[in-house]
Amino acid sequence: MTELNQSALTIKLVRVATPGQWAAYHGIRRGVLFEARGRIAAYDEDHPDEQDENHHPLLFLAQGEAVGTARLDDHLDGSASVRLVAVTSQRQRQGLGRALMSDVEAYARQLGIERLRAYVAQDAVGFYAKLGWSMHNEKLPNPLMMKCLVEPQ
Ligand SMILES: CC(C)(COP(=O)(O)OP(=O)(O)OC[C@H]1O[C@@H](n2cnc3c(N)ncnc32)[C@H](O)[C@@H]1OP(=O)(O)O)[C@@H](O)C(=O)NCCC(=O)NCCS
Repeated sequence: MTELNQSALTIKLVRVATPGQWAAYHGIRRGVLFEARGRIAAYDEDHPDEQDENHHPLLFLAQGEAVGTARLDDHLDGSASVRLVAVTSQRQRQGLGRALMSDVEAYARQLGIERLRAYVAQDAVGFYAKLGWSMHNEKLPNPLMMKCLVEPQ
C-alpha cells in the first residue's frame, strides 16, 4: 500500500467552478458511488441540489489530478451535511480520503459551521469512525454519523 507523503504531494480542495471541474466531479461520483456500487438509479448531473447556493460542490486535487469529491450542504444554523464523499478507485486506501475530509472540515470552519453530519454507506462507517465521527443512528440503511468541529464549552 502506498502511504500518502503529503510533503511530496500537492493536494488542494477547490469549489467546483469550471466546466472541466464539473466534468471531473460528476465523473468521480458517477463511477465510484453509482457504477462501482451497482446502483440502479441513474446518476443525475442536473439534480437541483447541485445548484443550491448553500451547497458547496468540492473537488479534491492531487498534483492537479482530480482524485476525490464531496459536497458540503450548509444548513445555515451552524450545521452542515457532508454528502457523496468519494475517492477514485485506484487512489483509495492511500490516505487521500483522510486528507480530503480534513480539508472539508477546514472549509466548513471557514463558513462558521460547528457540526457536521453524514448518512454514510455501511461499508464506510469504519472510515468515518477513524476520522473522529461518532455514530448517532446505526439502524438507518445509511447510518447517521456526526462530528463536532468546536471544543465543548
Ligand atoms: C470511503 C473513502 C472515501 C475513503 O477514502 P480513502 O482514501 O480510501 O481513505 P484513507 O486511505 O484516507 O483512509 C483513512 C483511514 O480510514 C481507513 N479506511 C478507509 N476506508 C475504510 C473503510 N471503507 N472501512 C474502514 N476503514 C476505512 C483506512 O484504513 C485509514 O485508516 P488508518 O489511518 O488507520 O490507516 C473511499 O474509500 C471511497 O471513495 N470509497 C467508496 C465510496 C464511499 O464509500 N464513499 C463514502 C460514502 S458515505
